[in-house]
Amino acid sequence: MPGIVIVGTQWGDEGKGKATDQLGDAADYVVRYSGGNNAGHTVVVGREHYALHLLPSGVLSQRAVPVLGNGVVIDLDVLFQEIDALAARGLAVGDKLLVSANAHLITVYHQRLDKVTERFLGRRRLGTTGRGVGPAYADKASRVGLRVQDLLDPSILRQKVEAALEQKNQLLVKVYNRPAVSADEVCDRLLAHAERVRPMTADVSRVLNRALDEGRTVLFEGAQAHHLDVDFGTYPYVTSSNPIAAGACTGTGVGPTRLDRVVGIAKAYTTRVGEGPFPGELTDDVGQRLRQGGGEFGTTTGRPRRCGWFDALVVEQAGRVNALTDLFLTKLDVLTGWDPIPVVVAYDVDGERHETMPMTQTELHHARPVYQYLDGWGEDISAARRFQDLPRNCQAYVRRLEELVGVRVSGIGVGPERDQTIMLHPLMG
Ligand code: GDP
Ligand code: IMO
Ligand code: MG
Repeated sequence: MPGIVIVGTQWGDEGKGKATDQLGDAADYVVRYSGGNNAGHTVVVGREHYALHLLPSGVLSQRAVPVLGNGVVIDLDVLFQEIDALAARGLAVGDKLLVSANAHLITVYHQRLDKVTERFLGRRRLGTTGRGVGPAYADKASRVGLRVQDLLDPSILRQKVEAALEQKNQLLVKVYNRPAVSADEVCDRLLAHAERVRPMTADVSRVLNRALDEGRTVLFEGAQAHHLDVDFGTYPYVTSSNPIAAGACTGTGVGPTRLDRVVGIAKAYTTRVGEGPFPGELTDDVGQRLRQGGGEFGTTTGRPRRCGWFDALVVEQAGRVNALTDLFLTKLDVLTGWDPIPVVVAYDVDGERHETMPMTQTELHHARPVYQYLDGWGEDISAARRFQDLPRNCQAYVRRLEELVGVRVSGIGVGPERDQTIMLHPLMG
């Protein structure tokens, strides 16, 4: 089972980190293919909590080689902070990590532009993480970006930084009334890391294709999620990359026929952080209780996550676009004690019933959730390790979601810890 992709099916924070960590033991390579340190992936191992932003969560397995593909945007300060913090906890990652020569770099002007454009947008802001991710991808598309390979040639790097700053400083100073950024500042900060990056720099496409040829297992860890995808998400309230499974190909240089399995991670309810439409959002006490019960506060920014019940239309669309082979349902334990449990099975859009996601954002903004009410359960399920250990109503809840989404549930999370998982079908091997 060589090529397996983990992808978020909602608006992020589904528990991709935990799933990747768990599968990491069986993987030879764990690869991030999109996004940057806007991601926050939590892994709990006993008493230890790890919050990973840039490194793939599979690094904790120790066995797999961690890789950052060309589709990732890299803040080198964050990368080395993360590597050093893991080293201080006894995990050596820096010696094995491979970084694509084609991955783009996030610089101080990307971070400043991210923050200042959000402030400028005011009420129309997107609620970005402010990490400079959007501006770095914009530069990639505008062909004024900086790449990892530029660190290997300081004079080229300098030329590129100066060219980029001609534009950026006009924007920062004249449009946003902020101080200019100097080429020295940018180059010095980037080049301070150059000698550490040099031995990590790799032709990731070649490495991964060779590994797949040899029958090794490559685990692609998605960041963000389907509905934050710049093409398929709730545009413009999206991230600036392609977190969908197809992004694993463009973001690493591995062709689509090499992917064997696509595992969609879905929370047993729905959350979203940042702005944008969310038809099932519960803005009342119920939403508040769900947030408290699930500990729904951002791993990256600490912002409270917006909460709602499971929305089958949201996950069904992710199932189709990502060609999911399996669904991994997380945080089922959080629903214990709720009875009945509503599930969004349709939208009412100006009096018209939609059983799949509407085509346009205008319709989505007008959508009102239509619920089916499923029976709840009161028993603690956090110690369950087999499907048959779950209460009958809990089993029926899982089966109903499976039916609505049209993808088989292969794994269930019943707690944040590594072993708090029920496997119905093996995902590896
Ligand atoms: P990611 O961005 O998709 O990796 O998800 P986050 O790490 O941002 O958020 C998921 C949160 O849920 C983390 O705090 C995890 O420790 C936690 N978590 C993951 N799976 C489960 C589960 O099955 N049950 C519970 N209670 N918590 C879980
Ligand atoms: P993980 O990998 C949840 C959201 C931001 C904002 C929008 C654009 O942990 O699931 P950006 O900084 O990317 O330009 O912000 O996307 N966002 C996330 N929401 N989880 C994430 O990552 C996210 N990464 C970005 O809140 O709405
Ligand atoms: Mg997260």
